[in-house]
Amino acid sequence: MRLFLLFLISTTQRETKIIAFSLFFAYFYDKQNLLNLNYYYITGTSRGIGKAFAEHLLSIPGNNVIGISRQKTIEHANYRHFYLDLTDITAVSKFKFELHANAKKIYLINNAGALGFIKPMGKLNADTITKNYTLNLIAPSILINEFINCYDSTDTEKVIVNISSGAGRKPIDGWAVYCASKAGLDMLSQVVDAEQKIRNNKPQESIHKGFKIFSIAPGVVDTEMQMEIRKASKEDFSRIEDFISYKLKNELSEPKIVSQKYFKVLNNLNNITEVLSSIKDYD
Ligand SMILES: NC(=O)c1ccc[n+]([C@@H]2O[C@H](COP(=O)([O-])OP(=O)(O)OC[C@H]3O[C@@H](n4cnc5c(N)ncnc54)[C@H](OP(=O)(O)O)[C@@H]3O)[C@@H](O)[C@H]2O)c1
Repeated sequence: MRLFLLFLISTTQRETKIIAFSLFFAYFYDKQNLLNLNYYYITGTSRGIGKAFAEHLLSIPGNNVIGISRQKTIEHANYRHFYLDLTDITAVSKFKFELHANAKKIYLINNAGALGFIKPMGKLNADTITKNYTLNLIAPSILINEFINCYDSTDTEKVIVNISSGAGRKPIDGWAVYCASKAGLDMLSQVVDAEQKIRNNKPQESIHKGFKIFSIAPGVVDTEMQMEIRKASKEDFSRIEDFISYKLKNELSEPKIVSQKYFKVLNNLNNITEVLSSIKDYD
């Protein structure tokens, strides 16, 4: 750098000076831009809300998305995919986040989720129960733990967003495991937030701090999950007619619109005052 400046001052030719200055400017402009990249790890990017959110992010320069699901449906230069079954605890435990030296922001969006079978307790089988808790609660817990551990000493904005559900905040018959796992995700978010506040207030705590976490419910969205709900039997789910009528009356939100709302909210983190909220709170 010093040598370069000396060369710039000492050179006598005007053209050489202009070229050298342009190279110098381009180098710093590039460096600045490279330091302005955002990395979004998103689970469940193959369809629904996760896919719409990933596609919206990818339409904005500087955003990189690392998607995680069993199928890949996005092709983009700034998109990378990890094929992972989030019900497989061993595989999830092996997942590693990468250090991104040029990151301005790093996000973990725990979006993948499923209702499992819609049936009252007593009619489920043990394997379904285990898989549903694993996908909706255990996998996000493992990923959050790994995310905090990995980016511990990274000096960037580090944000975790859990896509929760109104079902975690009020009981819905036939959805016991889904409701319980989403309630667990809400509580997990609140505990991590409390831990971060304690650590951030203690200057002697130098590790595992500086993370923000939010649990935001999307409302009722027109995705495959809603199709599954409408297939449930009346006998196993008392509110089936309500969900059929949401669709008939066009009351379901479009994944694209919902994902744009999430994007807007996440771009104004200071406006989020509570760990738990719903996307409609920001309308
Ligand atoms: N839609 C709604 O009305 C609504 C309401 C409240 C909350 N939510 C929440 O919003 C989130 C997204 O839901 P959505 O409606 O977009 O659902 P969706 O259309 O069914 O998409 C679910 C996504 O999760 C992934 N996924 C499911 N099982 C997986 C597994 N075992 N391993 C890895 N990935 C898996 C799927 O990918 P693969 O199948 O390719 O693996 C897919 O990309 C969920 O957490 C859901 O609970 C949705």
